[in-house]
Amino acid sequence: MNVLLTGGMGYIGSHVAVVLLQAGHHVVLYDNLCNSEIETLARIEQIAGVRPTFIQADIRSAKALTDALKHHAIETVLHFAGLKAVGESAINPVDYYANNVGGTVSLLEAMRETGIRSLVFSGSATVYGEPQYLPLDEAHPLCATNPYGRTKLHIEEMLRDLSASDPLWRIVCLRYFNPVGAHESGLIGEKPVGTPNNLMPYIARVAAGELKELSVFGNDYPTPDGTGVRDYIHVMDLAEGHMAALGWLTGHPGCHAINLGTGQGYSVLEMVKAFASASERDVPYQIAPRRAGDVAACYANPEKALKELGWQAQRGLPDMCASTWKFVSSRPEGRG
Ligand code: NAD
Ligand code: WQD
Repeated sequence: MNVLLTGGMGYIGSHVAVVLLQAGHHVVLYDNLCNSEIETLARIEQIAGVRPTFIQADIRSAKALTDALKHHAIETVLHFAGLKAVGESAINPVDYYANNVGGTVSLLEAMRETGIRSLVFSGSATVYGEPQYLPLDEAHPLCATNPYGRTKLHIEEMLRDLSASDPLWRIVCLRYFNPVGAHESGLIGEKPVGTPNNLMPYIARVAAGELKELSVFGNDYPTPDGTGVRDYIHVMDLAEGHMAALGWLTGHPGCHAINLGTGQGYSVLEMVKAFASASERDVPYQIAPRRAGDVAACYANPEKALKELGWQAQRGLPDMCASTWKFVSSRPEGRG
């Protein structure tokens, strides 16, 4: 199949690209490199043995997108491009609406123009807001608590409206929980610019000696050890979930939401312990106040993904930590 990945040079898109290329799909990566590097292209090629087509352009250019979709006879779009830092979204909300919502409008215009009606969207468990019950299934009420989350919710709503207006559309919103880990080669992984906001990349840099210690945001939550619990999912499992969704979509018109999580929650302290063990490094930490906007626990009910896509996560926490460590410690700045 000819597929175009917006944001395909980023953390999740690059792993999905590898899996799709290895399955024989023709892959076009469309990215403006605002949060990724050109070196990733050669690394994807090194792993997959095939070089994907790369187009450096912005999704807000409907013209550039239309040209790319036509030129490569694209059949399905996987839409990863977007800005994703929660804190930054509260400081620059307009950038987030312009890039995420505006960029998606532009993509949908280009798809309408070219007659492509098949879309896999990078959704997020952030659309569940504060959990009213756990585990979170797809029927849980939706509510966003920050501008980033609202962009994800607006996009989902827009996609549902679109699907209601035209039964030919086939759309799946994959709601990711907490993606972590890296490709087993250590060649591609998550490389945040500046100090990481998310737990796993922060722990990795503490283990590498690049950051002094982790601040554990709160140890008085109603969880077994008092620290926040999340559903961490290996990025390669996530990538395989996209492959499954791509095949499934062919026979499923409409707009669907499917969780991609493991169903298993781990606390911050469990993550620290697992990473220290996988890296054989100390991960010093101190207990700090709760972070504004955090919830005590968040984890998926992954049954719909199994029932519909025949997919479930295969990789455990040791693998998530070991692959992250391999990626981080093989970078020159990570050798410590
Ligand atoms: P990422 O920043 O690594 O990748 C996004 C890619 O999109 C980058 O390569 C960036 O250069 C590109 N991009 C951004 N704006 C663009 C634009 N206007 N035009 C063209 N390219 C553009 O992020 P990621 O972690 O790979 O996330 C991918 C998607 O998954 C995002 O939509 C994100 O909101 C969603 N998501 C991520 C997480 C997570 O924790 N990583 C969780 C849930 C959902
Ligand atoms: C995990 C746990 C923190 C950093 C975010 C977004 C969400 C989604 C995924 C895109 C929490 C604790 C963290 C640190 C800590 N992204 N923590 N010290 O907040 O679950 O989700 O990323 O859609 O929208 O909100 O992930 O990795 O930031 O935090 O103690 O330095 O680690 O309090 O309990 P989160 P996270």
